[in-house]
Amino acid sequence: MKPELILAPSMLSADFKNLEEDIKATEKGGAAYLHIDVMDGVFVPSISFGMPVMKSIRSATGQVFDVHLMIIDPIRYIKEFAACGADIITFHLEAAEDPQAVIDEIHKCGCKAGISIKPKTPFEDVAPYMDKVEMLLVMTVEPGFGGQKMMPETLEKVRAARRFVTEKGLATDIQVDGGVKYDNIHLPLEAGANIFVVGSAVFGDNTYGETKRFSDYLAQRS
Ligand code: DX5
Ligand code: ZN
Repeated sequence: MKPELILAPSMLSADFKNLEEDIKATEKGGAAYLHIDVMDGVFVPSISFGMPVMKSIRSATGQVFDVHLMIIDPIRYIKEFAACGADIITFHLEAAEDPQAVIDEIHKCGCKAGISIKPKTPFEDVAPYMDKVEMLLVMTVEPGFGGQKMMPETLEKVRAARRFVTEKGLATDIQVDGGVKYDNIHLPLEAGANIFVVGSAVFGDNTYGETKRFSDYLAQRS
């Protein structure tokens, strides 16, 4: 079965002065997910936002909260993020001492589990978890900042992941994150990704219009 194609705008590039308005524009533009980047200043150089922000925007939208934890020792915070309205919680393989324990904790909290790998981490490292999680997130830039250029070499891992999922008959989603633009989204799509995080390319002066453009594109290819 062909996997559903889903757009996940990354709130990191939103105008925080008008956060509610910006989020609603992406929902109206057809984005089923809202991608929420949590950074701790240790796993990645920057610090973004956390539970209080998530909690207050939960009522602003019916979108799936797709929470991307760029934090060390993620198991400490799973319960709290689940309580703040997360639907999917993704953690980094590189940040967890016992990845299976994190996956179990996420499931125990009633959320879907995602596992992410940075550009230099090979697919083989995450392969043993592919049938344990609902989503693999292949970072197509070094995590930490929005607005970077996609690293094309990371798409080889998307291809490997799609082959693996198909061969094993799994339903695991494959998400890409970083540097996805309107003129290059076809690359991860052709490589086999089905969930697309888009930050700087959708948020701005015309958030609704840009989101709709991406949604229409994915709808045509569904
Ligand atoms: C980067 C974040 C991304 C980022 C994507 O560490 O995980 O989600 O916001 O932004 P763009 O699409 O601008 O690369
Ligand atoms: Zn992200």
